[in-house]
Amino acid sequence: MPSVYVSRRLMASVVAELDRSFELAVHDSEWPPSRDEVLQRSQGRDGLLVMANDAVDGELLDAAGAQLRVVANHAVGFDNVDLDAATRRGVLVTNTPGVLTRATAELTIALILDLLRRITEGDRFLRKRTPWIWSPTFMLGKGLAGRTLGIVGLGRIGLEVARLAEAFEMRVVYSSRTPRDDAPYERLELDDLLSTVDVVSLHCPLTPQTHHLIGAAALKTMRRDAVLVNTTRGPVVDEAALVDALREGEIAGAALDVYEREPDVHPGLLALSNVVLAPHLGSATGETREAMGMLCVEALRAVLLDGRRPDNALNPEAWREPR
Ligand code: GLV
Repeated sequence: MPSVYVSRRLMASVVAELDRSFELAVHDSEWPPSRDEVLQRSQGRDGLLVMANDAVDGELLDAAGAQLRVVANHAVGFDNVDLDAATRRGVLVTNTPGVLTRATAELTIALILDLLRRITEGDRFLRKRTPWIWSPTFMLGKGLAGRTLGIVGLGRIGLEVARLAEAFEMRVVYSSRTPRDDAPYERLELDDLLSTVDVVSLHCPLTPQTHHLIGAAALKTMRRDAVLVNTTRGPVVDEAALVDALREGEIAGAALDVYEREPDVHPGLLALSNVVLAPHLGSATGETREAMGMLCVEALRAVLLDGRRPDNALNPEAWREPR
């Protein structure tokens, strides 16, 4: 049986499937292994199953050894992987597209609703035992209908957010490096989107080009009554600049599922009442996590048992026909 290292605890159903096909070494914890442990336990493996918060680089690939064929990244985002380093070593890398689209889009809509209808803010208010009474002017928020959602990055998840937002009668516009002529939404330059919409929602991948895409200048471009939602990757937003913008009232609020220095959260964000924070829950439903795990199993099986290149290979050029 091919040998596979798994860097985190997975759902039992996923482990059972892996167990049928591979000799397994599992780091059975919700906490990540130390880097030394990853390097050491990857040694001699044919496949690795890793998380978005594990760095996959030349050092790890070399530590694993020349027999390594495939790295299954248990995430759709793959900014943690040095794809060139993998390709140079003939190691195929896969991710988990599609299966988490709906879950992540749902969380995005939940955060938009939470911010505009002040749910978490109200919850914090009640837990402080603040005196209150229903009144026509008490804790007024904003409805979604008729408001404009600006999607930055119209990929699978951005499109799904757009579709769900339409059910709430939001108007949708987007900005994207590449036009999506198949999508029925108006495409704007990023600055035009930022300066006009009520809600800015980020769905672009983290790349050198999108690192700090939303910094001080972008935040100043946004309307003062607009809010920012980030369910992609933390470093797309300059967190310190966001804290300043929120403190100065340059934007009205923010909802974040991801953080620049995850798992750390900027202390300034924790202190602000117009901020909703979630601990990276985008794909966190049982059914989605199971599907993500199974997609990793399928990729490992395709490469290591069937000698077949999986469709979700991120670097198909790294494919080597089995000897
Ligand atoms: C999670 O953050 C993912 O990229 O799947």
